Amino acid sequence: MALHDEILEQYDVLKNLLSSQKNQVEKIAAEIKRRNIEYVFLAARGTSDNAGRYANYLWGAYNQLPLALATPSLFSIYDRPPRLKNALVVGISQSGKSPDIVSVIAEGKRQGCLTLSITNEADSPLAAEADFVLDVKAGVEKAVAATKTYTAQLTAVAMLSAALADDQARWKELDNLPGWVETVLKLDEKLAYLSTRYRYMQRCVVLGRGFNYATAFEWSLKMKELTYIEAEPYSSADFMHGPIAMVDQGFPVMVVNPSGKVYDSLLPLMHQLREVQQAELAVISDQPEALALAQTPIPLPAGIPEWISPIVSIIPGQLFGYHLTLHRGLNTEAPRRLSKVTETN
Ligand code: F6R
Repeated sequence: MALHDEILEQYDVLKNLLSSQKNQVEKIAAEIKRRNIEYVFLAARGTSDNAGRYANYLWGAYNQLPLALATPSLFSIYDRPPRLKNALVVGISQSGKSPDIVSVIAEGKRQGCLTLSITNEADSPLAAEADFVLDVKAGVEKAVAATKTYTAQLTAVAMLSAALADDQARWKELDNLPGWVETVLKLDEKLAYLSTRYRYMQRCVVLGRGFNYATAFEWSLKMKELTYIEAEPYSSADFMHGPIAMVDQGFPVMVVNPSGKVYDSLLPLMHQLREVQQAELAVISDQPEALALAQTPIPLPAGIPEWISPIVSIIPGQLFGYHLTLHRGLNTEAPRRLSKVTETN
């Protein structure tokens, strides 16, 4: 099965990316620093957009770069692009083919901005438009559901953050990433078993916040496209502003809450969901208290810095989605009505 193989390939993919692209990342960072960049304008769709969500938090927190997620229809349909003065314009796309994303980079270039494409296809239209290409080198991804290209995109975003800050300590932390990935990949059999409990699930919510806001979106996207479950992602803060009213006894809530600054803020909500609202919790975390609240605890290795945790914490979500698809008797390789490359205008 391509999907399963590609999930398991992530150790090699990330190890190779970290060593082969470091020079290119340093070059891009040097040019960003040389230019008068004030903010980032980033265009992406689907899984790649979730990598953009990670960049939004990471480059904001560690590089003081405000980031705006682009509205591609302003470029491709309304033909009314906003002013992009002093922006770094970034396109993230596995295929590099979607015309609306390419149109944002092309307009950035027309307005004299520095442009960057982060892609798995170095000879794609998106790559051709950009000043710099950061090839994530994940190898051909055959399965419709993106997995290794997603973690490779996140890793590229993380490498650029470390290079921009010239932060040797964080480069060192990134060296440990493949090891953590290897550890979570060993959860494969456990997740095959744990996911059986959800085979008749119709709907659920997926919560995360901060760096792992992206993980909530990506886990929910894997469930939607592979298992057709209505899985809605929320920031745990937004969730409390209304959607929490949906939850009653047995309502499935997936939570991504590894150690870090967000952990303590999300924990009381988890207690409330489990103990007061009697929700059914599946929890990805390295913290015993968070895991103890779950009917389905999914343990992460200890010691992962929060800024890197999204790259590791999505992997059990991918395996969960894969096995749940099999339990529901669905096709892991060919989700209905989807093809590998989606071109939108
Ligand atoms: C989901 C998935 C899609 C793509 C989206 C963007 O698993 O693969 O959501 O991420 O169609 O495609 P690219 O990255 O090729 O622009």
